[in-house]
Amino acid sequence: MQNYILLLNKKHSILLEKGKKTSTKFGVADLRDVEYGDIVEVGKQQFIAVKPTFIDMLKKCRRGAQIIMPKDAVQIIAITGLSQGWKCLDAGTGSGFMSIFLANMVGKGGKVITYEKRKEFYSIAKRNFEMCGLKNIRAKNEDVKNFRERNLDLIIFDMKDSTKFIGKATRRLKPGGWLVVYSPHIEQQIEAIERMRENNMNVYATLENITRKWKSMYGYTHPVISDVIHTGFMTFGRKTL
Ligand SMILES: C[S@@+](CC[C@H](N)C(=O)[O-])C[C@H]1O[C@@H](n2cnc3c(N)ncnc32)[C@H](O)[C@@H]1O
Repeated sequence: MQNYILLLNKKHSILLEKGKKTSTKFGVADLRDVEYGDIVEVGKQQFIAVKPTFIDMLKKCRRGAQIIMPKDAVQIIAITGLSQGWKCLDAGTGSGFMSIFLANMVGKGGKVITYEKRKEFYSIAKRNFEMCGLKNIRAKNEDVKNFRERNLDLIIFDMKDSTKFIGKATRRLKPGGWLVVYSPHIEQQIEAIERMRENNMNVYATLENITRKWKSMYGYTHPVISDVIHTGFMTFGRKTL
């Protein structure tokens, strides 16, 4: 993140590498001597240079597999209380968006271990982690069925057939630790609830998070018509005895 600058004005934002000259749709942006807080001219546009947040960085990250979007990831914080210092397991890594979100929430004292069985997605995610400057993610190019971590605060499964691993996940969580099963289809959620109950978990809820942006044009206001409404469902379970 320290290697990037976000150029921001009231209509546009561009994320660029610090200390470089880069061509943009507005003209060449010369950031060789630019610091956060400076005013930058690019073509006819004027911008302020600000430090990007990790959400700005996610927009620049490459996508391979389908991602968990920030609007769903925040729901995980709201329910589990995900905090600094937590030890989390995330599978499959996919494009690494969920892991990046977790790594920023758990901070330097926390840890994210993430498993991805496909080499091409593992490589995309590794590049995304490096671009975001994250040092608290341990990415493994392995099937999650063999995961070895114990005493976890949180496990997130976002992959086909994840319900097969709920028994093992329960044994590897701390008492009070959380398991979140994410999927686009409700059938996997129904199965997740059954497996969680069989494993003596406290099943908190299954939910989806629907957000709608609104826009106003020529005095008429309504939800943005082309927005994606359904992304996925999440079932939350908590380890008990
Ligand atoms: C939908 S993507 C995950 C996206 C990720 N949550 C994100 O936010 O970027 C699912 C990923 O799980 C991987 N996967 C499926 N089964 C797996 C397994 N048994 N072990 C490890 N990875 C697996 C797939 O290759 C795919 O990349």
